Amino acid sequence: MAFDRGSVTAIYPGSFDPITNGHLDLIERGAKLFDRLVVAILGNDTKQPLFTVEERIEMAREAVRGLSNVGVDSFDGLLVDFAAARQASVILRGIRAISDYEYELQMALMNRRLAPDIETVFLMAGEAYSFLSSRLVKEVIALGGNIAGLVPPAVEARLRNRLLPRK
Ligand code: PNS
Repeated sequence: MAFDRGSVTAIYPGSFDPITNGHLDLIERGAKLFDRLVVAILGNDTKQPLFTVEERIEMAREAVRGLSNVGVDSFDGLLVDFAAARQASVILRGIRAISDYEYELQMALMNRRLAPDIETVFLMAGEAYSFLSSRLVKEVIALGGNIAGLVPPAVEARLRNRLLPRK
């Protein structure tokens, strides 16, 4: 008997301030698991992002250009409302270390309470990126450290422009 689960759209939400190679690893793996993957960038971020939402969208779009079933968009308000509007049945998140677990569990359970039909699916971060975060990348580059291989080259260039004083 043929089993047709229909087409599955997953949302990969986050601040993406900026997108890193760790995010991209997860996006590439997620794109193989789901029919369509929407990278959803939080617009009204209380964390005072370094880049505007338009800049973060631009960087993410450029980074995922080669992936035909991946789109990039921004959202405000509840994530589950955005997911429902996109007919997505999955929220995709990455887990790096045990320290991520508590925050992720809280969000997943709250989202399930708000929208029981939407499942959060976790992928373990690639081991090469398990230490990587947008926050650390910004800190290291601002202090003159080398971030080659941790973000796409175009993102590195934007970070340099924004954070390093011109000589
Ligand atoms: O990259 P981040 O900062 O860990 O992403 C956090 C994000 C954007 C996934 C989370 O803050 C979020 O979903 N915000 C939208 C508001 C919302 O739906 N809150 C209730 C769900 S717990």
